[in-house]
Amino acid sequence: MSESAFLAATAGCRARYTPVWFMRQAGRHLPEYGEVRGEGSILDAIRQPDVSAEITLQPVRRYGVDAAVVFSDIVVPVHAVGFGIDVTPGIGPVAERPLRSPADIDRLRPLEPGDVTYVTDTVALVRQELPDEVTVLGFAGAPFTVASYLVEGRPSRTYEHTKAMMHNDAPSWHRLMDRLTESAATFISLQLDSGAGAFQLFDSWAGALSRPDYDTFVQPHTTRLFAELAARHPDAPGIHFGVGCDHLLESFATTGAGVIGLDWRTGIADARRRLGADLAVQGNLDPALVLAGEKVALAGARAVLDDNAGHPAHVFNLGHGVNPGTDPGVLSAVVDLVHAATAERGE
Ligand code: CP3
Repeated sequence: MSESAFLAATAGCRARYTPVWFMRQAGRHLPEYGEVRGEGSILDAIRQPDVSAEITLQPVRRYGVDAAVVFSDIVVPVHAVGFGIDVTPGIGPVAERPLRSPADIDRLRPLEPGDVTYVTDTVALVRQELPDEVTVLGFAGAPFTVASYLVEGRPSRTYEHTKAMMHNDAPSWHRLMDRLTESAATFISLQLDSGAGAFQLFDSWAGALSRPDYDTFVQPHTTRLFAELAARHPDAPGIHFGVGCDHLLESFATTGAGVIGLDWRTGIADARRRLGADLAVQGNLDPALVLAGEKVALAGARAVLDDNAGHPAHVFNLGHGVNPGTDPGVLSAVVDLVHAATAERGE
């Protein structure tokens, strides 16, 4: 049995219980976050390793989760090479000048280790503070999801400029994806070198694409990214996550990711029926059920465990990030239920 329940589950081995962590577990729903976050852009908070490490540790202390996701953001690498992007509260990433022409791609120079020492320092501080059984999780935005922010210039519902670039100028699109693939590979690799034991690739908005478009314009790049990380860090499992990606599930399975992150629209048993009985999965309680109160949240958590049916290759999570309006007491009850129920069953 591995010391880390998280690493055991991602390897398909039975752990002492089902490991739990939450996307966006660090952040606005925690009162202690507000106390240390300070004013200004989140990117300023991320640039202070002592502050970021403290924010990363807060949910581990409060909830006893099995993984600590580094407090950072998917736009950090592009911001660090001077693309000109910030995160506007209540909106999300906003670019000063969106990336719309082939020449704009050259505004993305390669990411160098020295560009993100504040992130690697944060990872090292967090690793130092935590016992071995808690896994530090690095992450990056996937090339498509990051490209969507750069090309649209802000969060979008239509992804019209992004899809227009793909279809009108495929060579430029692939050049952009190559750069973002290299940047994400470097960013994740640096986090793994500094003490992270696993990583998640957030392709949050890939669900906006048809399956043929995903397969043509995104899948080859994501596949290269997982292959490069597997070559450099053969022991570090990678999770591939997206929202509303049920129609892309079979394609996600071809990218080389060790673990597939599911949202609540895709059942765990259904995913295993489609991709194989041994599939390692993460997920997938609807975060809206956590907002509906403890009774609903716990019933939802039990339903997720039932859907997993005692399979060892399960990391419990929400199907997307913790909502800022979430009651920490309810999340705490979810963690306790998952740990207790699966320890009892010997899962
Ligand atoms: O999960 C964690 O606890 C780690 C921290 C984390 C943040 N961003 C911190 C953050 C992670 C994993 C991310 C990833 C991220 N950032 C994604 C992928 C995950 C997803 O939700 O699908 C995306 C799409 C972004 C881009 C982004 N950054 C958005 C849409 C926002 C919200 C803007 C808003 O104010 O509503 C951010 C800001 C952000 N990143 C916050 C946090 C805690 C909240 C803002 C703040 O505290 O100032």
